[in-house]
Amino acid sequence: MANTILVGAQWGDEGKGKIIDVLTANADVVVRSQGGNNAGHTVIHRGTKYILHLIPSGILRRGKVCVIGNGVVIDPIALAGEIDGLRKFGIKIDRNLLISDCAHLVMPYHRVLDEQRELRKGHAKIGTTKRGIGPAYGDKAARTGLRMSDLMQPVLFSKKLEAKIRENNSILQALGAPAISYREVNESYLAAGRKLQPFVANTVVYLHRALQRGKEILFEGAQGTFLDIDHGTYPYVTSSNTTAGGACTGSGVPPHRMDRVLGVMKAYATRVGEGPLPTEDQGLAEMLHKMGREFGAVTGRARRCGWFDAVAARYATMINGIDELAITNLDGLDQVDSIKVCVAYRLNGKRLQVPPCDATQLDNCEPVYEEFPGWNQSTHSARKLSQLPLAARNYAKCISKLAGARLSIVSVGPERGETIII
Ligand code: GDP
Ligand code: IMO
Ligand code: MG
Repeated sequence: MANTILVGAQWGDEGKGKIIDVLTANADVVVRSQGGNNAGHTVIHRGTKYILHLIPSGILRRGKVCVIGNGVVIDPIALAGEIDGLRKFGIKIDRNLLISDCAHLVMPYHRVLDEQRELRKGHAKIGTTKRGIGPAYGDKAARTGLRMSDLMQPVLFSKKLEAKIRENNSILQALGAPAISYREVNESYLAAGRKLQPFVANTVVYLHRALQRGKEILFEGAQGTFLDIDHGTYPYVTSSNTTAGGACTGSGVPPHRMDRVLGVMKAYATRVGEGPLPTEDQGLAEMLHKMGREFGAVTGRARRCGWFDAVAARYATMINGIDELAITNLDGLDQVDSIKVCVAYRLNGKRLQVPPCDATQLDNCEPVYEEFPGWNQSTHSARKLSQLPLAARNYAKCISKLAGARLSIVSVGPERGETIII
């Protein structure tokens, strides 16, 4: 397998974790390069459900090295907890995990600020995961953040932390939020730092040595294209570059070492949190929720659901340079008589082929639909394209064609094996 960037090509939760787990069989190293524990990547193997937040989903396969790159924002306590949780499942974590010393830290005041900003926005809230991601990236961009390298130097960390807590407590006080205790944060963060210390390294050097040795690297995107800080439905986005370019800046691996980009798309659309979802459909949401599907892996919120949006998909292919597509959750449409696909938007009497930049305009876009016949039978047991009902096969091929990339994987269930590789 070549060096592959895997991106979410919709609004997140496309099934990236599952596809990463499948592809890791042929990779040597799996890298997270952006986002934080706002991500929830589900892998189900032999009936056990694992939800990964900061650790790459490749960790479940023996002999693979997982890297948390410089572009990720890390809540050290959450990460230490995630390591403990995986160990309880019998997953080995020692020399197979590396954490960049340049990665920024998510601090308790980031989480409180995230919550407070959301509260103050009222109806205009973003619907964040309240994990402090926006404020943490805010500190990074303002050049006032604390990094993993600081945490590895306790005396320096405590000194920097004291100043940060003082600064943030005055902001929190003005917002009417309780002050944060320097002593408690200092103790708990240094304790988490001691747990993480064996994994902290210069991951750029590690990745370049791995490349020199011919190792194959898989870059695990978090969130999705339309949550990208630049290309997404701003301001209803996350605070990192979730698109393919983020894999380079967030890992220190240059663009010319990347061989292919794989986009993951659901056979329909979902979004958790606020912001435009042009093809949103209550009936489809009800059906999927009744099946027990589409509840958030991080916050448990019911995801909003809609029909496959080929306008958005084409744009995602353009931004990310998607060569190949993995279509997931095809089985979610097993009981639908007639399936809609949005092939254009209509806004103020004009037909649009690309999403407008402005979120309000996107919200006002009317989808132009084409209808596809449903197949009304289970697709779970198909392991080859030819074993899918003809209508399901046609549907997967048609949406890939509309998205403008080659179909290379179809997923028909959450388990590792419920996958068709083309
Ligand atoms: P991620 O954030 O992109 O990794 O996606 P999530 O794990 O948040 O959400 C995807 C959900 O779909 C999870 O519950 C997966 O177990 C599930 N899933 C992934 N692929 C399939 C599939 O093909 N069929 C079904 N039924 N579930 C799937
Ligand atoms: P994975 O990697 C789906 C959404 C939030 C909110 C917006 C901003 O599992 O696909 P944030 O907490 O990042 O400031 O929230 O982004 N969001 C996600 N939605 N999947 C995710 O990750 C998400 N991470 C953030 O719901 O709308
Ligand atoms: Mg998720």
